[in-house]
Amino acid sequence: MADDIITMLTTDHRELRRLFDMMTEDRSSRPLALPLAVAMLEAHSEAEEEQVYPALAREAGQKKEAEHAAEEHHEAENLGKHLLEMDWESKEFDRALERWTSAVVHHVEEEENDILPALSEALDPDRLQEMGMAFAQRRSQALAGEHLKAGSTGGGTSGQQEHGGETRAELYEKARDLGIEGRSSMKKEELAEEVHRAEGDNG
Ligand SMILES: [Fe+2]
Repeated sequence: MADDIITMLTTDHRELRRLFDMMTEDRSSRPLALPLAVAMLEAHSEAEEEQVYPALAREAGQKKEAEHAAEEHHEAENLGKHLLEMDWESKEFDRALERWTSAVVHHVEEEENDILPALSEALDPDRLQEMGMAFAQRRSQALAGEHLKAGSTGGGTSGQQEHGGETRAELYEKARDLGIEGRSSMKKEELAEEVHRAEGDNG
């Protein structure tokens, strides 16, 4: 039997922290560990926002918490991507790495102390199990998508892309800029629809 969502998220968090420690303690590990940590965090966040936060908002009544957690994901994603463009041996990198890892660790702690207990209290074991599988599948797709993007040389869109090839993270950012409420508990299709509608209204 596969792990439930609580165990899966906790395991993923532990793996991220291992990579953070590695990069902090051993500079030479950075060229290998950084892209891994950035891709992992992105896939983790995307899967969590699609498969977990909507249930957190709707089934566990934690709408505000879901919204807050999604904001933290996007901040962390931006910090991580910024690091990819920096010289990993520089002092600036040290500082940016410290900022990034503390932001993620803060988020992880909130999630493990507040969000996960709320989920496991509100949802029955079968639902937690089912959510774990959905999360793992979505995470795996996101990681494979990263791989495909990295391997393609321009222009190609993968089969599962729609809405002009925008990822959920991109749609989420647009939704935030447009002030769309309830965005953190929306699935990608809903986000795309709301963004499309709001952009239509503005134009
Ligand atoms: Fe998270």
